[in-house]
This record gives sequence, C-alpha cells and structure tokens, in this order.
Amino acid sequence: MKRIGILTSGGDSQGMNNAIRAVTRTALAKGVKVMAIKNGYQGLIDGDIEEMNLRSVSHILDRGGTVLQTARCLEFKEEAGVRKAVQVCKDFEIEGLVVIGGDGSFRGARDMSLHGVPTVAMPGTIDNDIACSEYTIGFDTAVNVAMEAADKLRDTSMSHHRCSVIEVMGRHAGWVAVDVGITAGATYTLVPEVPFTIDEVIEKIQFGRNAGKNNFMIVVSEGIFANVKQNVNYKYLSDKGISSASKFAKVLEEITGVESRATILGHIQRGGSPTARDRYVATEMGYRCANLLLEGKSNRVVAMKNNEIIDLDIVEALEMTKEFDLERYKMANQISI
Ligand code: ADP
Ligand code: F6P
Repeated sequence: MKRIGILTSGGDSQGMNNAIRAVTRTALAKGVKVMAIKNGYQGLIDGDIEEMNLRSVSHILDRGGTVLQTARCLEFKEEAGVRKAVQVCKDFEIEGLVVIGGDGSFRGARDMSLHGVPTVAMPGTIDNDIACSEYTIGFDTAVNVAMEAADKLRDTSMSHHRCSVIEVMGRHAGWVAVDVGITAGATYTLVPEVPFTIDEVIEKIQFGRNAGKNNFMIVVSEGIFANVKQNVNYKYLSDKGISSASKFAKVLEEITGVESRATILGHIQRGGSPTARDRYVATEMGYRCANLLLEGKSNRVVAMKNNEIIDLDIVEALEMTKEFDLERYKMANQISI
C-alpha cells in the first residue's frame, strides 16, 4: 500500500485531531503517503483532497474540532454516491481509507469496503453510543465541559435558592447526562433510555426541601421527552420548539414553587481542548487504524473492550447493540439528594 486517505464524518468530537495526527504520522513513518479528505464523504465524492506531510498535523493535538472538517452527506447514502467515491479513490490512487466518526459513518466505511476500497473506522462522537465500543473519543472532554458548566450553575442557583435544569447533548443517548449528573452531583438525572415520571423528580425535590435543601440541579438529556410515562398532560410538555430543559423548568416551578432556570449547554460540549484521556485513546486508536490498513486488513472497526484497544469486523460491529448502564443511572439518582 502506497497511499491512504483519512476523513472525519458526522458530528465532530474532541480527539479527532489526535487520531488524524496518529494515522498520518504512523503511515508516513512507514513510507506510505497520506491524503487529507475534507468534509467527510462529501469531500470524497467531490475530490476535495490534498496530500499531508509531517507538518500538516503539527500543533493540532490540543485543539478540539477536526482540521479535516466534517459534513453529513446524503448523496453518499445512495449507491451512486458510493460509486463516485470509489472512482475518486482510484483517481487519487488512494488504496486504503481511515474513517473517524459515529455509527452512520461506520455504515459508509462498510460500503467502501464492500466496493473494494480497504477501509477501517474508529469511533468519534461525544455520545459514547457506539455499540461495539465501550468508549468513543470526545466523550470524556464533553463530560468535563458540561460538568464544569454545571459547577458554575450551582454557584448561582445556590445564591438564589433555585433549581437549575441543565440540558446536555444526547438525542438518543444518556451517557453524557448520567456522567455529568454523577460528577456534578445533580439532584436528579434523566436520560432517553430510562422511562421516568415527573412525579419521581418532584418527590425528590420535595424530599430534599424537607431535609433543608434550598437549591437543586436536574440534568436532562436533550431527548428525554420521548419517554415520559405519565403526566404528559402537563401543558408545557407538549409545546413544540421548546427545549426539554425549558419545559421541565416550567413544570417544576409550577408544581414545587421552587424558582427554576433552564440552561441548554448545546454545542459548547463539542468544543474545547481534548482531555488527556481523549488524546490518549484517540492516538492509540488512530495508530491501530493505520497499522491495520498497512497490514492489508480491511472492513475493520477499532474499538475499546475491557479498557483495551481491539479491532473487529465492521458488519459484526454494526449488528451489535449497546445496553444502557442502568447501575450507573441508579447510582446517579441514589447518592445525591
Ligand atoms: P455519525 O457518523 O456521527 O453517526 P451520521 O449518522 O450523520 O453521523 O452519518 C455521517 C455520514 O455517514 C452521513 O452523512 C452519510 O454520508 C454517511 N452515512 C450515514 N448513514 C449511512 C448509511 N446507512 N449508509 C451509508 N452511509 C451512511
Ligand atoms: O451525535 C453527537 C451530537 O452532538 C448529539 O449529542 C446531538 O444530538 C447531535 O450531535 C447534534 O447534531 P448537530 O451537530 O447536527 O447539531
């Protein structure tokens, strides 16, 4: 193999730059050229590609985002789009591909492999929701960013004896929420995977208040209202175009009388310098991706299992499902009042 390509796809996550750097330097060290493909599969279809050198990845290891930039590309989901991408690989003499992204990007990686372009993928998303891997790069940084924001919000909610409802990212995944809830000491944490009732949250607040507590923190994932078991009639809950946190704050204030404020942390969680953990894991995974390709392997996903970096077949990886860690959820909601 003389030349490989690398792309980042889907939502960006901290650590992607460390992975890009590791792939590039590993391949270059073995005399293999590395092509930077811009904007995910879109750049692959458009031929938005340029050669990298050792310096192309200098001083990026402490930067969030992705220097290759990223995109969501609908055209690539069609057979014709994949064929175009394969042709571009031929034109640029790209003989192997590293894809860094989430589940959707893995499906694209599988398609490239099936069309004869050796491809390996690794998990980059803050959601930590990739079935085949117990860790995805970006998660640790996102949790730290959100935890620090929650600490700040606690300062002001303590001063005003308020309830702070904090919405973190995760349309379908509550991993960020539960770890922020635990590390910031939320009164209650709600995630999309676990059904809840408004009453259980209110009871917890009332219990705390009776025990002398005068400020509260509720951490919610952005996607929680998919799962409300009851009390769906509360007038605000069905409001469209309003964030989960704002709905929740209104309902809590109305029922408990505790003044409540909603804060949506949003994309701030996707930015910032990657933590040591994200830098390390991203580097280890990127190193493994490059080596797999150079050993002639294809259709593999690099993942973490029992804290070790492993690789497995992409098709097998995409068939796996990830159970939410209910014990972690239980702990989050039991140890704080
Ligand atoms: P993520 O990789 O973070 O899950 P997306 O689901 O948005 O993000 O997927 C990123 C890109 O991967 C999409 O824009 C598309 O180009 C490609 N992709 C997503 N799903 C598929 C699929 N089923 N088949 C082929 N390519 C896909
Ligand atoms: O998948 C990562 C993620 O940040 C989710 O937590 C969030 O729901 C979504 O991406 C937001 O996507 P966008 O970048 O399109 O706003």
